[in-house]
Amino acid sequence: MKPRVLLTRRVPATVYRRLEEACEVDLHGEAAAIPGDELRRRVADKDALLCLLTDRVDREVLEAAPRLKIVANIAVGYDNVDVASAAARGIVVTNTPEVLTEATAELTWALILAATRRIAEGDRAVRAGRWGGWALDYMLGMQLSGKQLGVIGLGRIGTAVASRAPAFGMSVAAASLPGQPVSPSGGVPLPPIVTVPLDELLRTSDVVTLHVPLTPDTRHLIDRPRLARMKRSAYLVNTSRGPVVDEEALAWALGERLIAGAALDVYEREPLVHPALLPLDNVVLAPHLGSATTETRTAMADLAVSNVLEVLAGRPPLTPVHP
Ligand code: DGY
Repeated sequence: MKPRVLLTRRVPATVYRRLEEACEVDLHGEAAAIPGDELRRRVADKDALLCLLTDRVDREVLEAAPRLKIVANIAVGYDNVDVASAAARGIVVTNTPEVLTEATAELTWALILAATRRIAEGDRAVRAGRWGGWALDYMLGMQLSGKQLGVIGLGRIGTAVASRAPAFGMSVAAASLPGQPVSPSGGVPLPPIVTVPLDELLRTSDVVTLHVPLTPDTRHLIDRPRLARMKRSAYLVNTSRGPVVDEEALAWALGERLIAGAALDVYEREPLVHPALLPLDNVVLAPHLGSATTETRTAMADLAVSNVLEVLAGRPPLTPVHP
């Protein structure tokens, strides 16, 4: 008998076929996330769970699944999985690092440019017929060249973002947090990076970009006092996890013009966005698109399936996470 897998969302057909050849697949094919009670019910007789960051895999889910050997999260972040409870039950947890680094770094730069050059705001003005033509002082933004990029969290994605800074003539400062090693550059040429304490980075950077995982230490890392420390001309970009930024505090700082602007790809309560952010013109709001390229999403699903197949075959997973 083939092992049983619960797959909580559709994956590309080529990846699905690989999984189906080796496993009996129970697919939740709806566009919306599987409800918690349904997840607990359908995982009960499964050997593996292939899930997304929108699925909360807590202790109750794990307790409901006595046969479960692996939770393969199709994401690099895994704050949606209770990794400690899984470890205590001997269940392997895996994520999808590396394969989404470039896509997320590219999206980060897209947001940096969108915020500093007011692209979304300009697009709205053109569509609404509010553009009166070229003017010397119309919709001025900030030039990147000659400015400092402050990277908080110099892991894989932070490093990939930093490596692109010379293309825009920016210098790089980094603040690494405890437990956040500086990744090897993997052969990518890196600009000189000065490592500074977090508060100094906030005080001196023109663009601050966040690349830390969500942990109890990083929840609301960017709060009112830290926003108040930033330059009034600076921009904040978040492509990591929403709760790293206190959204209410950010709306306050943007509204009071304590910082010039922000760009967010992630939110505290996705898909909800803090209502105070919505009317603000100086924030770009993207719908969690960091890894959203065809190539990357296929690679993420493929890696997650490989992890499932390895573990179900009694071999070590390719990309385990540890409590
Ligand atoms: C991840 O993999 O953690 C990303 O947030 C998905 O885009």
